Amino acid sequence: MSNEIADGLLLASGYLDQSQQAALLDDIRKVVAAAPLYRPVMPRFGKPFSVTMSNCGPLGWLSDKSGYRYQAHHPVTKEPWPEIPASVAKIWRDLSGYDGPAECCLINYYADGAKMGLHRDENEEDFSAPVVSVSLGDEALFRFGGAVRKSPTKSVRLLSGDVLVMAGASRLNFHGVDRIYPGTSNLLRDGGRINLTLRRVTMR
Ligand code: SIN
Ligand code: MN
Repeated sequence: MSNEIADGLLLASGYLDQSQQAALLDDIRKVVAAAPLYRPVMPRFGKPFSVTMSNCGPLGWLSDKSGYRYQAHHPVTKEPWPEIPASVAKIWRDLSGYDGPAECCLINYYADGAKMGLHRDENEEDFSAPVVSVSLGDEALFRFGGAVRKSPTKSVRLLSGDVLVMAGASRLNFHGVDRIYPGTSNLLRDGGRINLTLRRVTMR
């Protein structure tokens, strides 16, 4: 079931069934075996993120003391990021409406207590491409607002298998994750939540 919950913000609830979620998780496990999750820090003062991160695709998004950026290699191993698995690329092809592949799949892992402050996805060159975001594992309270930080916000629970598409008027809107709900999914053996954020980075 697909629902436009704000102008340009499409929630495809239950887009992936149980077996598709399990298959996707297997593919992501292989990615993080090659490109381990690490804990990034915020620009300038170096405060650690509460999530751990990795990437796949030609360009990975990262944050460190010198800022936010995309780069082609893992900051710890220095290896190129693994390829985006076919199962993930298919979600982009089917839902993005964009005539070209995603270049970055950011992997965020939320253990109990992790969250993501309100922010905009704005380090890309091409804002005509949407952001496609896949939820796996425990449920999350996702908050979305408008074009400025103090715009009014609404919240929605994202469940395992849900896919959110931030396009058009919502592409550059503020959003974040206030909390996850431990024990609400048994997809991940050790609990927690994985979010995959697919983005086009460069102009076509
Ligand atoms: C993000 O916007 O970086 C992550 C969103 C999510 O975890 O659902
Ligand atoms: Mn984001």
